[in-house]
Amino acid sequence: MINEMQAKLLEIKGSVDARLESVTDLKALDDVRVALLGKKGELTDILKGMGKLSAEERPVIGQVANETREFIEARLDERKKALSAAAIERQISEETIDVTMPGKGNRIGRKHPMTQVVDEITRIFIGMGYSIAEGPEVETVENNFDKLNAPPDHPSRDTQDTFYTDGGFLLRTQTSPVQVRVMANSKPPIRVICPGKVYRADEIDATHSPVFHQMEGLVIDKGITMGDLKGALEVFARELLGEKTKVRFRPHFFPFTEPSAEMDVSCFACDGVGCRVCKNEGWIEVMGCGMVHPNVLRMSGIDPAEYSGFAFGMGLERIAMQRHAITDMRLLYENDVKFLSQF
Ligand code: DAH
Repeated sequence: MINEMQAKLLEIKGSVDARLESVTDLKALDDVRVALLGKKGELTDILKGMGKLSAEERPVIGQVANETREFIEARLDERKKALSAAAIERQISEETIDVTMPGKGNRIGRKHPMTQVVDEITRIFIGMGYSIAEGPEVETVENNFDKLNAPPDHPSRDTQDTFYTDGGFLLRTQTSPVQVRVMANSKPPIRVICPGKVYRADEIDATHSPVFHQMEGLVIDKGITMGDLKGALEVFARELLGEKTKVRFRPHFFPFTEPSAEMDVSCFACDGVGCRVCKNEGWIEVMGCGMVHPNVLRMSGIDPAEYSGFAFGMGLERIAMQRHAITDMRLLYENDVKFLSQF
């Protein structure tokens, strides 16, 4: 009996190195430990036979068993250290960062040329004491036309066709209805600009789009004259296009202003000599403007005997296009990053 047990213990001891050799990770190592030393392990199994030994035999086997256990534990420990070191080694080599590799560039976006124009014009007028007013793109027909002195049979409605909906609404054809809203909701003195999108039934081509941008302006106070209009708009033009810029006013018609004018600026590209940008005219048309019609003031609850004012409105696409020599308006809406990143 005792010899048999001794032989088994020696056998286990002798098998340890071979078993550990095939172990390549910590999980497999633990499996070996459990198989040898665990509660149902091989060593435990042998020691269960101890009860059958005599009192003299027991310490002998006990000693051999302890040596065997210590031997196994020492070997397991060695193997564990070796495996851990190898794992760390592997991790380090796999996670090596090559600091000489080129970095990944972050592409930084920029403002769309239309946004740049809106921002710049807004900045200029804010510097002149104007504040910003906004109105809805789905407007009432009344605000878009009637209260701007264009009653239902007025021919100016034909030139600004748009989508109409039930209940007296339309997609606004101009930013001018924001004037009506401002006059209805505040008391003079009024000094506002109103940037925004407008809609017209136009075919898309190089110079037309059914959706485009305008900037409206409205000033109302006691004693406002055409001289104030000219002064303000000339300052604006010089600030936007340069100190040398000249302005001229041509008589025109708008239902909501009287008198009305269109303002041209001397061409910023050729200083008025004539070039491609100004189509050899030397002048570029920038906006419509005029003295607010007494009917318009009256319809919005402002007494024309007490107050007067001027208004103006400009298309913003054309300004962006001339500025950057863009010849096709569609380029502004296609969102081609290669195109837009030039500005
Ligand atoms: N609303 C006009 C248009 O779309 C532009 C305009 C002209 C606005 C004269 C004004 C103005 O405020 O006074 O053609």
